[in-house]
Amino acid sequence: MGRSSFVVVANRLPVDQVNTPQGRQWRRSPGGLVTALQPVLAARRGTWIGWTGAASKPGEPPIEPFEIEDMILRAVPLSPEEIELYYEGFCNSSLWPLYHDAVETPVYQRSWWEAYRRVNERFADAAAEEAAEGGVVWVQDYQLQLVPAMLRARRPDLRIGFFLHIPFPPIELFAQLPRRTEVLRGLLGADLVGFQQPLAAQNFLRLTRHLLGLRPRGDSVEVDGRQVTASAFPISIDVAEIENLVATPHIRQRAAEIRHELGDPKTILLGVDRLDYTKGIEQRLTAFQELLADGTVSVPDAVMVQVATPSRERVEHYQALRVKVEREVGRINGDYGRVGVPAVHYLHQSYSRSELAALYCAADVMMVTPLRDGMNLVAKEYVAARADLGGALVLSEFAGASAELRQAFLVNPHDLDGLKDALVRAINVDPIEANRRMRAMRRHLRTHDVRAWARSFLTSLGVLDTMTT
Ligand code: ADP
Ligand code: G6P
Repeated sequence: MGRSSFVVVANRLPVDQVNTPQGRQWRRSPGGLVTALQPVLAARRGTWIGWTGAASKPGEPPIEPFEIEDMILRAVPLSPEEIELYYEGFCNSSLWPLYHDAVETPVYQRSWWEAYRRVNERFADAAAEEAAEGGVVWVQDYQLQLVPAMLRARRPDLRIGFFLHIPFPPIELFAQLPRRTEVLRGLLGADLVGFQQPLAAQNFLRLTRHLLGLRPRGDSVEVDGRQVTASAFPISIDVAEIENLVATPHIRQRAAEIRHELGDPKTILLGVDRLDYTKGIEQRLTAFQELLADGTVSVPDAVMVQVATPSRERVEHYQALRVKVEREVGRINGDYGRVGVPAVHYLHQSYSRSELAALYCAADVMMVTPLRDGMNLVAKEYVAARADLGGALVLSEFAGASAELRQAFLVNPHDLDGLKDALVRAINVDPIEANRRMRAMRRHLRTHDVRAWARSFLTSLGVLDTMTT
């Protein structure tokens, strides 16, 4: 029996292992899951079980649990073969595209499933070892959908929650998935299954009827004599962290510097994403290119900055996307750039939180145009950073965040004319109207930050009273 009364299990630890000549170092790992959960776990001094992002070597001694920023981290090793079959294969070539409306065609290979099952067993073993008697284990995301049932079989004394950070597909799409009933049964091992949107929870409950013949009632369903509840808990960010950051003179000064380095243009348009085909990066580049071509905007009055963190670089879909994006950036700069003034500043890099905050403060128009996204925390970070009430957010209707940030310039990113029109309206918005929109969105975020999200999930799981907040 373990020692932690609160355990989070996620594919990734909040830090990635980097091997340097000086030895092993740790740096923050990418993505919205880490951004959201880190403050929640740190506040409760819980244990985080996850992968280090590096391949384990045969015979290598295991990494002992270690402490970082008020969390205990326990590493789960993945071999190079498991990274290929489980992470790059089943997780990111089958599940990721399928759950995102199949915007890229999901690939299925039978050998991937066995690795997915085996790795899920390993995470379940680690959680079973780590959790204290009667403790709470909160399993995260699509990589670990089998863990809830595996963990329940090992430790029926635990309260088990599961949260899916990405969209959950409609029945017709989910039905494509080989091993779909095993996945569903895996999730049903939890006491509470959380989704970003109410429709996703409904899809899930309907599937339990459709594929397993169960009888969902309201927001729950009975399985093996237990009640499993499924509902929506839209995730958020640490609003106070960003507000504190942008209140420092250093960030304000850095934002001014960035504007200057970009040539003091009238309009800075910004995109910040993992380099992922769900994010609609190509669509926004095309829209910007057409605006330049028809003379609606011109260099150097308007410049675009696209920060695209490297992501899943060995997966084919991602390699193809990188080629397309970089070709398009090159083409736009070739056609419309000037010496020393490119039209698009493309940065295939990861940035620090403070540099990102400064970029948000510098940007007049933030472009968040995913074709499908569970939530999209970048949109929320931009709003949190605009304490000055400046800036305009162009936001896809297909991002979960659009259900909350209703005062954004909402767009359908598949509709190129609509996207161009929204960009033009955002560029030319009257400052009073821009302030009004930003104020309303900020008001919403203040009361819906990540602490409220965690409280609401843990209350529904029936465990909040037993934990410190
Ligand atoms: P996803 O989880 O699919 O990556 P989100 O928008 O929900 O998308 O979350 C992305 C997180 O990663 C945000 O917290 C954002 O600040 C961070 N991020 C995105 N791009 C970069 C980058 N280039 N450098 C550092 N952090 C980044
Ligand atoms: C999204 C997923 C997370 C994932 C992150 C980064 O936020 O929901 O589960 O960790 O992207 O992706 P990666 O494959 O690098 O972990």
